[in-house]
Amino acid sequence: MKLQNDLLLRAAKGEKTERTPVWLMRQAGRILPEYRAVRNSLSGFKELVETPALAAEVSLQPVDILGVDAAIIFSDILVIPEAMGLTYEMVEKKGPHFPKTVETIEDVNKLKTATAEDIQYTIDAIKILKTELNGRVPIIGFAGAPWTIFSYMIEGGGSKTFSKARKMLYTQPELAHTLLEKITQSTITYLKGQIAAGADIVQIFDSWAGVLPANHYTEFSLKYMAKICDAITEVPVTVFAKGAYWAREEIAKMNCNTVGLDWNMDIAESRKILSDKTLQGNFDPCALYGTFSEIEKATKEMLKQFEGHNHIANLGHGVYPDTNPENVKCFINAVKAY
Ligand code: CP3
Repeated sequence: MKLQNDLLLRAAKGEKTERTPVWLMRQAGRILPEYRAVRNSLSGFKELVETPALAAEVSLQPVDILGVDAAIIFSDILVIPEAMGLTYEMVEKKGPHFPKTVETIEDVNKLKTATAEDIQYTIDAIKILKTELNGRVPIIGFAGAPWTIFSYMIEGGGSKTFSKARKMLYTQPELAHTLLEKITQSTITYLKGQIAAGADIVQIFDSWAGVLPANHYTEFSLKYMAKICDAITEVPVTVFAKGAYWAREEIAKMNCNTVGLDWNMDIAESRKILSDKTLQGNFDPCALYGTFSEIEKATKEMLKQFEGHNHIANLGHGVYPDTNPENVKCFINAVKAY
């Protein structure tokens, strides 16, 4: 089906566009009262993820309400560990929790390499979303980067230091590589399933990239992300390695089209290092707490710094839950008016 608005895809492929496309990481779910209404009618987050018609509905909300140039499918990066055999719970106001974690090589060997069928609910949600969008905007599929998924499987949840996961890289590197490889193969099959169902572009979230030293990042994260990038040839790929400013030279060599920048990454420097890549980002999500005129001014300043380089406007990380949707609209409209 021909897309009516393919700005994001053209920008990702390095083509010139009439204006900069815009969307927000975590646009589906964190901020809209319309999302809360759907969410509160259910037993919890997982029920929403696992009910394709509702997951499609909340993916569509930001397109209708905020006017973004793409829909990201509503799901979570943690569906992969679950499909491999490690179930998670989403604890209200606290975040994810894994009752069982990976400690030994036997634990790793018990896990399966997941297939897209193991996450059929998200595949079905993409198909429904595709029909409902009727070509209005592209669909972004996604998965967590192997390192970030590994961190959750070892830690059992979020962490300030990720010291358990990082300790594993020193004390049991072979276990780490075996698990990372299993996550990688699962992720490739899953992303290919998303693409077959209708995802037009995919993003890999390495949310905890920034906690690793550079040598470990190369060995335990980039290597596996590169495998994913090499395997996904059907659609453009975006890599977002939060906090890994020192990895940009190596990311520049990867088989991806777009690279996400967080708000700490210098734009001029990133343009030089990543000269062949489309850049995505990197508005500080906290700048959305300002007044409308402050948001407009800061958005223009950001866009100016990207001028002449292929760019997809976004935040430097996910939008924070207490952000006023009107302020988000102000950011989106400022990008569109530039
Ligand atoms: O971008 C989108 O809006 C699409 C959906 C999406 C969710 N999670 C829904 C969600 C995406 C792309 C994710 C990715 C994700 N999940 C990441 C990587 C991106 C990032 O921000 O770094 C990570 C690290 C997770 C793990 C996770 N899931 C955490 C830490 C939490 C708890 C707090 C929170 O909101 O992030 C979740 C739960 C979650 N995932 C919610 C949503 C809408 C909130 C749950 C609720 O409605 O109660």
